Amino acid sequence: MTSFTYSTGPARVVFGSGTVATLPDEVAQLGASRVLLIGSGRARPADEALGSLVAARFDGAVMHTPVDVTGKALAVLRDHAADCLVAVGGGSAIGLAKALALRTGLPQIAVPTTYAGSEATPVLGQTADGAKTTVRDPEVLPETIVYDVDLTVDLPVNLSVTSGINAMAHAVEALYSPGANPVADQQALDAIRRLARALPRIAADPADRSARDDALIAAWLAGTCLGSVQMGLHHKLAHVLGGKFGLPHSETHTVLLPHVMAAMAPAAMDRVADALGVSDAPTGVYDLVVALGGPTSLRELGLTEADLAQVDDHQALLRQAWEGNRPRQTGLPDTRALTKQVVDSFSGGEPRTRALLQDLVRTMHSYVLRNDLTEAEWMHAVTFLTRTGQISGDTRQEFILLSDTLGVSSVVDVLTNSRTPDTTPSAVLGPFYTEGPPERPHGFDIADGLPGNPLWADIQVADTHDKPVADAIVDVWQSNEDGYYDVQLPDLDGPVLRARFRTDADGRLRFWSIVPASYPIPADGPVGQLLAAVGRHPNRAPHVHFMIAKPGFHTLVTQLFVKGGDYLDSDTVFGVKDGLIVDFPAQQGPTPDGRDVSRWSRVDFVFRISEG
Ligand code: BEZ
Ligand code: FE
Repeated sequence: MTSFTYSTGPARVVFGSGTVATLPDEVAQLGASRVLLIGSGRARPADEALGSLVAARFDGAVMHTPVDVTGKALAVLRDHAADCLVAVGGGSAIGLAKALALRTGLPQIAVPTTYAGSEATPVLGQTADGAKTTVRDPEVLPETIVYDVDLTVDLPVNLSVTSGINAMAHAVEALYSPGANPVADQQALDAIRRLARALPRIAADPADRSARDDALIAAWLAGTCLGSVQMGLHHKLAHVLGGKFGLPHSETHTVLLPHVMAAMAPAAMDRVADALGVSDAPTGVYDLVVALGGPTSLRELGLTEADLAQVDDHQALLRQAWEGNRPRQTGLPDTRALTKQVVDSFSGGEPRTRALLQDLVRTMHSYVLRNDLTEAEWMHAVTFLTRTGQISGDTRQEFILLSDTLGVSSVVDVLTNSRTPDTTPSAVLGPFYTEGPPERPHGFDIADGLPGNPLWADIQVADTHDKPVADAIVDVWQSNEDGYYDVQLPDLDGPVLRARFRTDADGRLRFWSIVPASYPIPADGPVGQLLAAVGRHPNRAPHVHFMIAKPGFHTLVTQLFVKGGDYLDSDTVFGVKDGLIVDFPAQQGPTPDGRDVSRWSRVDFVFRISEG
């Protein structure tokens, strides 16, 4: 037999874009005219909308609602005879308004700018002397919530992720609370569904309004359903960690959620897994957090091992969360002790080597588990790698090609070489560079008579203050009209379409070549088969390679891509960056050096390199 008690808050909700403009009306509907505005920078649109209704402002709200801060705000409220509270921001601003409402009975309007959901609960957490206590009282529930999606579009991705997972934690807790009821269940499941689809879209494009809409609706639903049930283990742990050790609220929720879920009966998690669209809910949330770049361990939030030991209950769960382990996948054998044993076996040697190998083990074990890998699949992978090695040699490096087509080379390249926006973006070296290309004079034709559309390149090398860099060594290489490099054509006589130049006193160099064409990477080996297996094409967008070196500067390895060329959006090695796509305009009339050709193109580009 089902039995429950359901009560709902009286809150009025205004949702949309530009809804801060309704604030004066909303204040009037509450019969008020002297607003205490709580919030910091994000409160400006509300401040402007409220105009002369603002009697006083308080921007000192902090996390976990310490009672001494509430005392200060209370003094401001009384000094200015405020008759209404408007809180704009996340859990801190809204928490403070609730604390003030509890003490004064004043009506509140919450204008949330995060997904914390606190505006929809009659619950207030306060801290005093390092302990957090929770009050549940209808008085703390805001009378009105104004959700304005416009206020959320510039919420940074990391905060969007952690406050979104915080909202998901509310929904999960509501589903499994002893006070669960059918209304809250539907709200919770819808909130989980919306967050699972919105958060990856927000991480990819923080200005995606429909994703922001979804996430904000989810935050409201999650807060509302949590408000109608009792809180459970998840909030209990989060409150202990927040109150005692000052751990950040939404980050703590984000780390705890998968582990609390893993501690619940597996069957209880089926509805959550369904809503998330995964087969296993705890690992599904953990993997979502990893994919979104959110925190996974209490350790990274600053909790020390000594702190951990001070918490009395739930040590096993908290240890998993502290270490940031992926929860055990339900329905699979528990291999965590095995993984730990292997990780621990790599405990000697040089620290960086050890750390890299230990993480490789963790990541690979997790990959096998996540995919419930079969022996046949693993043997297939081993055979693939064996063939990749067998086909590699002095003139072919299939492993680099594998790294390139998996995008790993580009990630390493971005990490290593593209850390400052002031320098020209880098791009992968590729397998066709040869050391020490022939040094050529300015104006030389590196195509050496090969067929193709003649290209005049006028290049300058400058430092990050726009000062020309003289005497820089610039290696250039590219493929021929058919997409082959000289090293792939054994019949060619000598190096061609590759050369070394030296910049002149103005940092410039000029040379002739031919307009590059798109070409397939070598696709007759295991990597080509891998691409074919998923219907990926093997082509690179048309480009010319450059390597620019000068003592005292970081060497720049990069490529210039032909604007309008094929495959710019789907370059098979992920080398294309916006700043490297340049015009190669067709020209008519005389050439810069008087060379007699009727049809030619040119490319002009300034490379910026940095000292160091
Ligand atoms: C290249 O542009 O030369 C290249 C880069 C990565 C893989 C294959 C080719
Ligand atoms: Fe290339």
